[in-house]
Amino acid sequence: MKETKQKTWWPHHVLKAGSLAIIILIVVVILAIKFQVPDDAPAIIPGPDDGQYIPGPEWYFLLLWQPFWYFTGETKHLLAYSAIVPFIFLFFLIFLPFIRIPFKRKAEVNPGNKEPMGFFSKLVFNTPVLLIAVFLAGITFKSGYQAKILGCDACHNSSMGHRMYTPPVNVAEYYQVDRARQIKSAKYKAGKMVSIDETTGEKTYDLAGAETYKDANWQMRHMYEPTFTW
Ligand code: HEC
Repeated sequence: MKETKQKTWWPHHVLKAGSLAIIILIVVVILAIKFQVPDDAPAIIPGPDDGQYIPGPEWYFLLLWQPFWYFTGETKHLLAYSAIVPFIFLFFLIFLPFIRIPFKRKAEVNPGNKEPMGFFSKLVFNTPVLLIAVFLAGITFKSGYQAKILGCDACHNSSMGHRMYTPPVNVAEYYQVDRARQIKSAKYKAGKMVSIDETTGEKTYDLAGAETYKDANWQMRHMYEPTFTW
């Protein structure tokens, strides 16, 4: 009788997963060569709104900026959680391989540990991973697609000199004097509320929910709406 050998990590799994990884890598490289980020600078200077709706690698980190957009004013204290939650989530991903669907006992999933799982069992078994992958892709897309990631050269280019193209001549002095002064007197404050009295026409500025100039909130808005926040 022919002996049926148990499939092992080496070479079965390594070759199977490895070849899949190589195929994905080749697809990524081909896509990167075929669909390059349209950037003709310095020959053609982009417009400040360029890059909106164009997929870019920056989308990944824009995700971490999103809480600064939503948690302003009264909800500002929630910002701390936007640092903690991804950390917990990362731990969850690390331990995911050890998490089992509770109502399915091991014997039921793979009786005797011999028969390979069928396609549909695998699909059901991997549902949490698939859901998380879709969720990650979704929030990455959602947080990035409106960002004007290619428009930076419109304003930050070599004809603009110090502070716009090259760093300030004396960085320490710039931060302590110039930038500090800008922050103190800047008109633009994210989250600023203006109410107009209907009878007297008097304007009241409510700065309670306002963020300061050139803080994290400003840096983020500078990327999403550079012609409005600068
Ligand atoms: C509409 C023109 C415009 C566009 C487009 C633009 N910026 Fe700026 N940016 C400015 C101006 C004006 C300042 C203020 C410079 C100063 O005061 O020294 C600035 C300042 C900055 C600063 C310094 C902020 C600080 O803390 O002092 C950074 C960083 C920056 N821009 C990054 C970017 C990036 C990244 C992009 C592209 C996503 C971008 N900018 C697109 C006009 C622009």
